[in-house]
This record gives sequence, structure tokens and C-alpha cells, in this order.
Amino acid sequence: MPKIIIANWKMNKTVKQSLDYVKKFKPMVKDAKNTVVLCPSYTSIYALSNELKGTKIKLGAQDVFYENEGAFTGAVSCSMIKEFCDYVIIGHSERRTVFNEDNKMINKKLKAALANGLAPVLCVGETLSERQGHLTEWVVSSQLRGALEDINEKDAQKIIIAYEPVWAIGGKESDSPEDAEEVHLIIKGMILKKYSKETAKKIIIIYGGSVNEKNIKKFAGKKSIDGFLVGMASWEPSGFSKIVKSC
Ligand code: PGA
Repeated sequence: MPKIIIANWKMNKTVKQSLDYVKKFKPMVKDAKNTVVLCPSYTSIYALSNELKGTKIKLGAQDVFYENEGAFTGAVSCSMIKEFCDYVIIGHSERRTVFNEDNKMINKKLKAALANGLAPVLCVGETLSERQGHLTEWVVSSQLRGALEDINEKDAQKIIIAYEPVWAIGGKESDSPEDAEEVHLIIKGMILKKYSKETAKKIIIIYGGSVNEKNIKKFAGKKSIDGFLVGMASWEPSGFSKIVKSC
């Protein structure tokens, strides 16, 4: 089964730097069988959408606001990003902690993305103290419950869930593939309980947190891991192309 590999560039790269990256990256992944999504800053999205024409590389945004237009200074809406993007990351732990986003807001953003035909990449994951307190299942379940409130089964099947243990983000230390797999199965179980067997089978669950070209193969070998959300290791084209090609 082809996997989906999503690059989260975070707050990095000017338009020129983004274009330089993509010019190098395109030929490196031209025969890749996996789906590749780049999530640059808003400012680079338009330029990259032109540069990526005729390729299979997709674009995503790193966040979005839930209203479609109006007096929301500084915000960017789904109707704006859907001109260029197919995907949008929602509820990344950096949004939750630095920008105080709660499950209620994440739920509104998810609904807006789905209503606009975007594929949301919903991030969930526990902090180190929560992991040490054996609260992983509880935290991930409550994040999912909040995010998925009033989202019907048909829409739920379009969501990509990214399990990202917060303590593993930032090129520090990744989770073990076995532990990651265990949480993926917990998530699948929750989806099964809330929706159905069919949705649990269909829903895409990816892993993120210090994935790199050295550890990717071990994660990719796990059946319940359908792809990856890659931060730091996606910021340089040749390393990221190796990740794309090794799973
Ligand atoms: P990382 O980031 O790969 O640098 O750990 C992943 C993410 O934050 O999505």
C-alpha cells in the first residue's frame, strides 16, 4: 500500500528558499510511489503551486481559521487555501501550546476544512509527563473525542489522523515503532467504537515525531502506520527525498 508522507516546514523558508528546495526536490521524487505533500508557510504556497504544476507533489497548509471570510485580522480561511492546497494540518501540538488552541477550536477548524473539501491532517499526542503518568490513551482519546464531535461518518473517513507524541517532536528522540503502533491501534479502536468497522479500516493514521532517514524503515514496516508527518527532516530536499523513497 502506498503511504502518505507529509512535510511540515513550520515557520521556515522564504519564497525564494521554498522555490530553491522544490526545484531540487522534484526530480528526486519523480518516480516515488508514495503520496508526497509539502506544507510550506502561507507566503510560499502560491509560488509553489505554480512550480509544482505537472507533478504529483501536493500542497497543504499548516493551519487554517474556521470562518470563511470577515473581520478576523491575520487569519487565513479554507476558501483561500483551497485555491492551491488539498490538505491542511489541524491541531498541531505547537498550535495547541503556543497559540492556546483547544479541542473546541480544533473541532471548528476540522468542520470548516471538511466543508471546503480539504483533507484535514488532525494531530493528536501526549506530553512527556502524560506519557510517564500512563495517560497516553486518555489524552489521545479525549483529543479525538473533542475534535470529532458532530462529525459524521462520511466526513470522518476523509480525515487523516497524525499521532505525534509531543515529547518526540523536534528531532530529539522518536517513539519506538512498537509503542507508536500500540497507540495507532488504540486510535483505530476508538474510531471503530465511534463509527464503524468500515471507517476504522478506511481511516488513515500516520506517525510524526523525529522521523528521519535513519529510523523511517523501522516505522514503515509497521502495518498500522499509513504514513508520516515529518518536521525537521523534511527541511532539506535530499534527506526528505530519501524518506519518501524508503517506505
Ligand atoms: P519533527 O516534527 O519531525 O521535527 O519531530 C514533526 C512535527 O512537528 O510535525
